[in-house]
Amino acid sequence: MLILGIESSCDETAASVSENGVNILSNVISTQIEEHRKYGGVVPEIASRRHCENISAVVTKALSDAGKKLEDIDAIAVTYAPGLIGALLVGVNYAKGLCMATGKPLIPVHHISGHIAANYIAHPDLKPPYLCLVASGGHSHIVEVSDYTKFHVVGRTRDDAAGECFDKCARAMGFPYPGGVHVDKAAQSGNKEAFELPRPKVTGSEFDFSFSGLKTAVINLLHNANQKGIEINKYDLSASLQDTIAGILCEKTVSAAQQMGYTDIAVAGGVSANSGVRAAFEKACAERNMKLYLPPLSLCGDNGAMIACQGYYNYLDGQRGDESLNAMATLSIEEI
Ligand code: KG4
Ligand code: ZN
Repeated sequence: MLILGIESSCDETAASVSENGVNILSNVISTQIEEHRKYGGVVPEIASRRHCENISAVVTKALSDAGKKLEDIDAIAVTYAPGLIGALLVGVNYAKGLCMATGKPLIPVHHISGHIAANYIAHPDLKPPYLCLVASGGHSHIVEVSDYTKFHVVGRTRDDAAGECFDKCARAMGFPYPGGVHVDKAAQSGNKEAFELPRPKVTGSEFDFSFSGLKTAVINLLHNANQKGIEINKYDLSASLQDTIAGILCEKTVSAAQQMGYTDIAVAGGVSANSGVRAAFEKACAERNMKLYLPPLSLCGDNGAMIACQGYYNYLDGQRGDESLNAMATLSIEEI
């Protein structure tokens, strides 16, 4: 079964053709990062306009890279939530138009479930149930994946997402947007013991995260140093920040898995590309005899292949959209 997957929830216009979910025939990503960099972050209206300009070419290239025509496609999957509303609407309307013109089934896909599905593409042995940490620019969730289309959120961030914390601290250190990857690079040559950064405590649900205190601590540290004319070593601060974020993400996820009796753990989302996060999970899982699934770097960030893959499982589950499908800026993965 051939699925065309379309993704436009943030600053990447992406499309992919996949066979039976996991066999990726094409994966085209048109990124707008350069343009948003000027502003230090994503400008929603610019994102929507660029999606509008690029989506047709991206889908056409995904079909031609796969050596397929639109007639060959069996169903069209599209991200409809959560994300920037104007950006999502472009993908949703484009997919709806294609489905209405061709009579093909429309499959709505929740963006976070798409990130989770990226691991099925890389790891044919990964099967629910398992526990997955999804850490991206907008989300930090520990999700119990009880089936391919059934999710239960065990922990979530109370404030900032891990990716946002990376990006805002990176900006304060003078790195360009999106800063996560620059912190990762700088951390390679820094001393992670150089700065003792706070690990905010969260009361209530023990698997919830909070990153705003850490973000504020790093920004204040840089601000105070600047006022006193003291130079902060960005390599060391990057290493300390990365170690702190990786430690928080890994500790909570592994402890949730232990308490819930899971021995299979997956990590997904843009932050799963972080070398410190990957190393922390590799070490913790090896020590506890847990099986760890990490997406390849090419599938950590937003892409169409993960949407096509999850679209396949949603299709098998009977999930369909119609001409009234709307986009939603916020929607819990439990509500789908
Ligand atoms: O999943 P994603 O592409 O988009 C969202 O759904 O938000 O995640 C983007 C986030 C950004 O915050 C970016 O800085 C972060 O993932 N990111 C990283 C790395 N690569 C991407 N953070 C830390 N280290 C990296 N290597
Ligand atoms: Zn994402």
